[in-house]
Amino acid sequence: MRSIYTGNWFKCSVTLAFVLPFCIDGYAMTNCTVKGSLKHTESLTVICTKKGLRALPKDIPHDVRILDLSSNEMQRIKRRELERYRDLRHLNASKNQIQEVEDGAFKSVPALKELNLFSNRLTRLSKGVFRDLGNLTVLRLDGNIITTIEPSGLSLLTSLVILNLTGNHLHRIQAVQPLFTLSSVQELYMGRNEFSSFRSLEVSNTSTKLKVLDLSHNPLQFFQITTDVLPHLETLNLGFIKGSLKWDIKLKDSLRKVDELNLSGFGKRLKGTKSVLQSFYPSLTTLTLNHVGPKEVRQFINAACLIPPLRVLHLKFNNIVSLSKPMLQKCTGVTTLDLSHNSLKHFTRLAFRPMRSLTSLNLSHNKITNVPPALGKLTSLEFLDLSSNAISLLGRLEFANLTQLRILCLCENNIFILEYGVFNDLKHLEVLRLGGNKILSLAGIFEEGNLPKLRRLELQNNKLNMICRNELRGLVSLTHLLLRENQITKIEEGAFEGLRTLTHLDLQSNEISQPSLRPSVFFGLTQLRVLKLNNNYISYSCQKSLRDPPFLFLKSLQTLDISNQRHKMISELPSNFLEGLTSLQSFLANNNNLISLYPDIFINSSKLELLDISQNDLSSIAPEVFWPISKLRKLYVSRSDIRSVNFLVQANLTEICLLQMSKNKMSVINETVIRSLPKLTYLDMQGNAFSCDCGNAWFVNWAATNNDTQVVNAYTYKCNYPSKLRGKKLLHFDAESCNMDVGYFCFTSTMCLILLILLLSFFYQFLKLQVVYAYYLFLAFLYDSKLRRLQDSQGYLFDAFVSYSTHDELWVMKELLPQLEGEQRWKLCLHHRDFQAGKPIVDNIVDSIYRSRKTICVISRHYLRSNWCSKEVQVASFRLFDEKKDVLILVFLENIPDHQLSPYCRMRKLVKKHTYLSWPKLGQDTRVFWQKLKVALESGDSLNEGNAILSE
Ligand SMILES: *[C@@H]1O[C@H](CO)[C@@H](O)[C@H](O)[C@H]1NC(C)=O
Ligand SMILES: *[C@@H]1O[C@H](CO)[C@@H](O)[C@H](O)[C@H]1NC(C)=O
Ligand SMILES: *[C@@H]1O[C@H](CO)[C@@H](O)[C@H](O)[C@H]1NC(C)=O
Ligand SMILES: *[C@@H]1O[C@H](CO)[C@@H](O)[C@H](O)[C@H]1NC(C)=O
Ligand SMILES: *[C@@H]1O[C@H](CO)[C@@H](O)[C@H](O)[C@H]1NC(C)=O
Repeated sequence: MRSIYTGNWFKCSVTLAFVLPFCIDGYAMTNCTVKGSLKHTESLTVICTKKGLRALPKDIPHDVRILDLSSNEMQRIKRRELERYRDLRHLNASKNQIQEVEDGAFKSVPALKELNLFSNRLTRLSKGVFRDLGNLTVLRLDGNIITTIEPSGLSLLTSLVILNLTGNHLHRIQAVQPLFTLSSVQELYMGRNEFSSFRSLEVSNTSTKLKVLDLSHNPLQFFQITTDVLPHLETLNLGFIKGSLKWDIKLKDSLRKVDELNLSGFGKRLKGTKSVLQSFYPSLTTLTLNHVGPKEVRQFINAACLIPPLRVLHLKFNNIVSLSKPMLQKCTGVTTLDLSHNSLKHFTRLAFRPMRSLTSLNLSHNKITNVPPALGKLTSLEFLDLSSNAISLLGRLEFANLTQLRILCLCENNIFILEYGVFNDLKHLEVLRLGGNKILSLAGIFEEGNLPKLRRLELQNNKLNMICRNELRGLVSLTHLLLRENQITKIEEGAFEGLRTLTHLDLQSNEISQPSLRPSVFFGLTQLRVLKLNNNYISYSCQKSLRDPPFLFLKSLQTLDISNQRHKMISELPSNFLEGLTSLQSFLANNNNLISLYPDIFINSSKLELLDISQNDLSSIAPEVFWPISKLRKLYVSRSDIRSVNFLVQANLTEICLLQMSKNKMSVINETVIRSLPKLTYLDMQGNAFSCDCGNAWFVNWAATNNDTQVVNAYTYKCNYPSKLRGKKLLHFDAESCNMDVGYFCFTSTMCLILLILLLSFFYQFLKLQVVYAYYLFLAFLYDSKLRRLQDSQGYLFDAFVSYSTHDELWVMKELLPQLEGEQRWKLCLHHRDFQAGKPIVDNIVDSIYRSRKTICVISRHYLRSNWCSKEVQVASFRLFDEKKDVLILVFLENIPDHQLSPYCRMRKLVKKHTYLSWPKLGQDTRVFWQKLKVALESGDSLNEGNAILSE
């Protein structure tokens, strides 16, 4: 019966699984993740990058707006593939292997505004593809191998603003001619193709709206403008033109709006440099002349600096070794000069003298060994970059006269000596970058109030080993101080005193240990908001509380990072470690060997919103820890050996939106836990040891279908238990079978029951015997195992159990017992004598019957009426069906007519099927009776044997 039931249940669940639709609008997707919330459909972004996809995943929410499929292995975009995503605005399919976009592929996405097909294998695009892209504004086709584009197709891109065709195999400008007739197109990138000419006649006879035209890296032979086709052009890139360009501008002022020109890599090829540049006289402000060569660039500069509006000059990668006055003589109007990536070493004293207006000078990546005195003439300079040179010493007054300087970069040099007063003239300096040098000490440099406006001081990656008292006192406007990656072991008391405006202090990756963490060290930092102390040597072990909590005075601190301490000796943070940090919002203590957290650790930090305690050894966390920080929104507890999420239920984390608990040892996540986090939108449980049974049924279903919380990469979660499912995917576990609807369940089980009853009555009618037999077999089965064991272990204790009514006790004691036990030497079991005291009566009956070879029923009218007796008969008759042993011997003490037996259905049937013995009437001979009883007791148990002997 039980097996029938489970079978039906199984069938029901299978049908259910088929009936339910595959839920695709939940957060969990096989290969993709949603960025942000599913609820904000106007910006719904789905990311499916780097998943080895060959086709569009089927489970993307249908109202996706931005879809990123980049870096996969798709080979084509099929006709109906995007059918479901009518709201799609941005599609990024770059870095795939797309060879073909089928006609009509975009038919169902009329709202598409941006399409990125960068780095694919497209060779051609047909008209049918463009027909559906009427609202497209940005199209990237760069990095393909396109040789032809159907011109009539391009003219259908009526909203196109930006087209990138860089890096294809296009030959003739006519091929893209329609682009020049579209009034919407503003930016056209056609570099790295095989265009050999650009002639205005080839492209249009009317003027376009084009603002940006990139023809770089083409083997251009002709650039000819005869009609006014580019009246709005602002940026023209003609860099790295291969071959010798013939410049032919017939129409004066045809490039009158161009303010940005790139002629990089031109070298000697451009004949009549002057005449070319003359075309841009009225408007050019920015000229890029990279990779031209040291001699040629001089020629260019002389011509270029004659253009009155020129302000910005890029001269990178020209191998210029020295700079003297004649070179930049004419460039009096230039304000921004980029000389980076040359080989500059020598500057004459007056090299920059003509450049009275220069405000920005980039000299990085050269071979400068000393700060050039020539800079002293640049009194209007605001930005100076000397990084990545070979400067080792900064002498006194080297930056004299640079009173307007606001940003000075000296990083990545070999500076190890800073002379006293070196920055004394820089009254307006706001940012000083000294990172990546070999500075050993700051002795005196920042003590005076010489840099009153300095906001940011970068000293990272130097050789400082100590910060002394008052050393930085002069920096009264400082907000950011970067001291990371030094060798600081000691910070003196009051080291940061005077830095009243400091908001960010970065001390990570030093050698700071516990003794440097005293409240007095941070004294005066009343505005400090961010303190980074990660990657140091701070350690606490077994200190319940500290006498001097280190951050006592940092009332404004919002972010404290003490992660990755290198000794890994913190086993417990002292309970008052965070005392004083009443503004703390983020606390990072990951990777520290923490084994537990004191419940009162956050008692003063009620504003905490982000807590990272990942990579520790916290196998569990007390919920009390979270009680003071009810505003917590982001909790990171990955790789921490956590075994259960149940602490979250009592933690009262009602504001949590992000929960990162990957790589722990959790197996079950139940509904109560998730329900206790009502604002959760991001849940990461990757790499846990999930058990795939009904305990997780709710979670499985919820992860796949809910619309509020994204369960990150839910489809990668694996089963760890039961062992036969180990390695299988959690979300493939058929949770429906556990999760059946109660109504449906009742319905099906009732149906099953009715059917069963119908069937049974049917069988009973026609196959009565077998049914009865089956029934007994079942009952026997229930008693069976226990008794079998009993019997096997003990064998038979008695020859016969005597079942009788107490009213017949006299007969049993006087007649039966003396004859059977006395004369015939059988061992009998009698309830009043042999039942074990204290044991339930039913158990006693059952035990006795099974421990006896036979059961003698002494039947009288009293016997039939007795409840216990009928039980005894019942049990004895089970044995018949159970063990196939006929153990019953019926002895009638009185003659009971058939009609009187009829209420005792069972007995009547036994009498009908069994032969029985009758106690002779008063005065008759009893010897035959005893003889028959003896034979019956001696007989074997098999069903047919005894009957023959006993038959009357
Ligand atoms: C997810 O990607 C794999 C190949 O990386 C693919 O076999 C599977 O069908 C994808 N799932 C969906 C729903 O597209
Ligand atoms: C195409 O753009 C126009 C103008 O922006 C807009 O009115 C129209 O609704 C867009 N078409 C679709 C299908 O979104
Ligand atoms: C155009 O394509 C080139 C080459 O792939 C790329 O470097 C550039 O950023 C692209 N520009 C735009 C505006 O898409
Ligand atoms: C600073 O400027 C003054 C006046 O313009 C000039 O005399 C002096 O030589 C300059 N100092 C340096 C170091 O160039
Ligand atoms: C948890 O939150 C509930 C409801 O907001 C509140 O009644 C209960 O006191 C809180 N428990 C603790 C320990 O803060």
